[in-house]
Amino acid sequence: MALSVLWMESPLTRNSGRSFMSEKPVYVTTPIYYVNDAPHLGSAYTTIAADVLARFGRLQNRETFFLTGTDEHGEKLANRAKELGEETQAMVDRFAKVFHDSWKEIGISFDDFIRTTEERHREIVLHLMNKAIAHGDVYLGDYVDWYCVSDETFWTEGQLQGGKCPSCGREVKKLVEKNYFFKISKYTEKLLKHIEANPDFILPASKRNEVVAMLKEGVRDISASRTSFTWGIPFPQGPEAGQDRHVIYVWFDALVNYVSALDPLGKPERFKRLWPQATHLIGKDILKFHAIFWPCFLMSVDLPLPKRIFAHGWWTVEGQKMSKSLGNTVDPVQMSRTYGKDALRLFMFREFPMGSDGDFSMANFKARVNADLANNLGNLVSRTLNLISKNLDGRWKAPTHSAPGTEDVWESARQASSSITGPANAEETSMERFEYFNILQSTFSFVTSLNKYFDTKAPWTLAKDPSKKQELTEVLSSVAEGIRVAACMLWPFLPDTCDEISRRLGVKTPLSLRELGYGNLLRPGGAGAEERVITMGQPLFPRIQ
Ligand code: MSP
Repeated sequence: MALSVLWMESPLTRNSGRSFMSEKPVYVTTPIYYVNDAPHLGSAYTTIAADVLARFGRLQNRETFFLTGTDEHGEKLANRAKELGEETQAMVDRFAKVFHDSWKEIGISFDDFIRTTEERHREIVLHLMNKAIAHGDVYLGDYVDWYCVSDETFWTEGQLQGGKCPSCGREVKKLVEKNYFFKISKYTEKLLKHIEANPDFILPASKRNEVVAMLKEGVRDISASRTSFTWGIPFPQGPEAGQDRHVIYVWFDALVNYVSALDPLGKPERFKRLWPQATHLIGKDILKFHAIFWPCFLMSVDLPLPKRIFAHGWWTVEGQKMSKSLGNTVDPVQMSRTYGKDALRLFMFREFPMGSDGDFSMANFKARVNADLANNLGNLVSRTLNLISKNLDGRWKAPTHSAPGTEDVWESARQASSSITGPANAEETSMERFEYFNILQSTFSFVTSLNKYFDTKAPWTLAKDPSKKQELTEVLSSVAEGIRVAACMLWPFLPDTCDEISRRLGVKTPLSLRELGYGNLLRPGGAGAEERVITMGQPLFPRIQ
């Protein structure tokens, strides 16, 4: 039976015709990071997760825009510059470069890197704040309550835990200052309705429930300006502000980056296309800002809400909270240099689902990389290529029929593929719901099933018997085709490795094949059956000791 026939009725084919063909753009953002230090495991987690989605969008040939950047204003950074004895602008310039260069070094494929001290950003912040003022949503008042400088967050007495910040556990300070306030309460009812009507607006569901509970409890109006320091965008204040010099509260400044980076005034058409597709990937620590403050502000300035806010969990290191003083921060750049970019990328999403918390331990990292990359995938590639090189003159072709004994292999390929597309009636792929954990689990099961098939068929024995040449060819070409398919599936997660696998197999890399359509790429035989010439190489992943 021809493979195309074998696959015609499968859910894979049905799904690929539907969601793989989605024409909707992908617009994915990370939080913009405070420039008080170098990136660590936590910021790298969010950034790499966004990178995976962006690469997936590009692989599907969808218009894709991936934004990251740095949050450079506010009291925390002004204090940090004082502490370091540097000019604030010089300090933020220095650390912004560290972030930019670190992301480049670990292979982050961002399309834009926005800094809140840039003019293009300031212009939009002022534009939107003026709009909120014109809509009567801003008023002058006194803030007399608690503030956590580290999180740049206002707290009520009742919210504190043991007198400390309930989010980061640090000391809070009593703030008494004149602020402009934003009438958040005017929009919370409308936001609740939006969340009810769009259950996937906030994911995972547990986080949506938290937001709903906060909204039902009631949210007090929030400061839109600060007056006790000057490091920020000057607030467009009226004469009633008196002698006080107001700067825009850093969160109202920072959140606007998601809009300002799209240049809404200069490129309105692109803005209209991309903005409603916005997916904000964030850590759970900043859920309230993204899922309550930001949507209410957007409603005030008459902009549509983003498509999705996904709040992921928190990493600890060897069971402890990551912190400079404990000396247990993990440097993603160093990890990438030592073990390769893809090793870190795999580990991050292979251990636990993205909505949960997880722990980083060197022992688990090594065990995971050795099991999946050295033993499972790497070993399969090297065994297969070795035998093709020795026995088939380094050449292979995708099989035109499904060889006997490959049923389990192709069934697990189908399951892996469905884990990417998601349920048949879904309007979007599971990738867009950040179901990376499930996807990797089923894709590596597929790789395992290829290894099992390889072991069962023992092609090294077939190679010894000239009369078994046809069977040997069938086995090796089936496995080679399976590896090609797995490399397409894994490409967003392990781009360097999958490019290298494709190169060694003699097939065009997944990206250059995208004109075929992603669904076809994932279909055994779907990339054509021309002859391929392999290239040998060093082990892809040497075992880590
Ligand atoms: N500047 C604000 C965000 C403004 S977005 C408009 C901010 N910056 S931050 O530098 O503190 O970065 C916070 C983000 O870093 C978290 O939301 C999360 O994405 C990531 N992480 C920081 N520490 C983390 C862990 N320990 N674990 C997982 N992610 C964490 O907040």
